[in-house]
Amino acid sequence: MRIFVTGGSGLLGSKLAEIALEKGHQVFSGYNHNLSEKGLPIKFDLAIETSIRKSMNQSSPEIVFHTAALTDVDRCQVDQDLACQINVRGTKILAETTKEAGAFMVYISTDYVFDGKIGMYREEDPTSPVNHYGYTKLMGEQHADCEARTCVIYGSRPASGKVNFALWILERLRKEEKINIVADQYVSPTLNTNLAHMLLDVAERRLEGIWHLAGSTRISRYDFACQLADVFGLDKNLLVPSKMANMSWMAQRPRDSSMDVSKASRGLKEKPYDLNRSLKIVKEEIG
Ligand SMILES: NC(=O)c1ccc[n+]([C@@H]2O[C@H](COP(=O)([O-])OP(=O)(O)OC[C@H]3O[C@@H](n4cnc5c(N)ncnc54)[C@H](OP(=O)(O)O)[C@@H]3O)[C@@H](O)[C@H]2O)c1
Repeated sequence: MRIFVTGGSGLLGSKLAEIALEKGHQVFSGYNHNLSEKGLPIKFDLAIETSIRKSMNQSSPEIVFHTAALTDVDRCQVDQDLACQINVRGTKILAETTKEAGAFMVYISTDYVFDGKIGMYREEDPTSPVNHYGYTKLMGEQHADCEARTCVIYGSRPASGKVNFALWILERLRKEEKINIVADQYVSPTLNTNLAHMLLDVAERRLEGIWHLAGSTRISRYDFACQLADVFGLDKNLLVPSKMANMSWMAQRPRDSSMDVSKASRGLKEKPYDLNRSLKIVKEEIG
């Protein structure tokens, strides 16, 4: 299949492009500031309509994986117009051009569409974002064929010019630095490799609607860091449990945005992995 991955330089998009290529697909990899390394790179800007249309003409895809977004939660809170321009208007235009091309669009959404009051969210649960990032991502959901919501993505390599949550912890522990990590925020950490396989499964079968595609383990960020330290034989005494209330975030975060992935576990060939399995894969990938 001809596939256009927006955010091909990012944490998820780069892994998705890599695995799609391995599976024999033709991959066009959209980027903005950081050149995509996997697939045929296409530079474009979601804030500019003509640029989106040009990228779609260049790739003429059958499948669009829309992973690109303004993902910095605090920046979205401060720069609300830009967040709307990229995450809402950019997504709407991309979806329109996808329909015009007769292609199928999988939009990557987030656990931050929920307020985090109950946790283990199912696809049909009411949404109620507590910050502007979550609001813009929820608005973007209106336009796609398939909305794949995920949670705290991590992987074995830096992408889009930055390290992810797991690599950041490993870097600091290797330098024997203490890290404050929130122990009262619960998530479903998701390995990018597992997510990429699930997304390809969804797209190859053109499964429509909302899908919660995340790791199958609900855990606090602090306990996640402890398990990561154990797997890599690092000193978990350097991890200091802290509280969400003590963080100097610009945007509010949901307290428990863990996801119920039973629909994916039942309906997909590629199942959500639990944390033990995922962390072993990260270790193998890092080598
Ligand atoms: N990371 C998480 O924990 C998490 C959790 C839940 C949901 N999600 C969602 O999952 C998706 C992937 O996240 P990620 O962590 O892989 O993202 P990421 O690593 O931060 O990468 C973001 C990507 O978006 C591209 N991008 C940003 N602004 C753009 C613009 N104006 N025009 C074109 N491309 C632009 C970036 O391109 P350049 O780097 O080339 O500028 C980059 O490739 C996002 O939609 C995010 O909302 C992420």
